Amino acid sequence: MSLKDAAIAVRENAYAPYSKFHVGAAIRTPSGAVYVGCNVENAAYPEGTCAEAGAIAAMIAAGETEIVAAYVVAGAAKPVPPCGGCRQKLAEFAKADVEVTMATMTGLEQVIRIDALLPGAFDGAFLKG
Ligand code: THU
Repeated sequence: MSLKDAAIAVRENAYAPYSKFHVGAAIRTPSGAVYVGCNVENAAYPEGTCAEAGAIAAMIAAGETEIVAAYVVAGAAKPVPPCGGCRQKLAEFAKADVEVTMATMTGLEQVIRIDALLPGAFDGAFLKG
């Protein structure tokens, strides 16, 4: 299944009763596997999680750690950019040149590289002193 189809399909399962903003995300790893996630909101609003976080959690649970492509889709007028926290989460597992495709349900797409999504990213290298 393409990343686009996987993201559109998982978006159907989004749990977003508060914002009504349904998001689907799909990521591919070097093995060719595709992992998906949708946003999961909570009555305690800050406890909600983004679609990208769900897809990353599924990848890690499956024993993989590298993202080679990502696709995020939502029912907005313009392609929806990942939030700041999700940019950091994606950057943890994706090299600088990995492309993230942001899309609308009407077929608009915008492609952006990880290093453009999060310039000057904080990464594990800083922890080494
Ligand atoms: N959301 C995502 O899942 N991913 C994004 O990239 C942007 C925002 C979700 C979080 C929340 O459930 C809803 O969209 C509205 O902010």
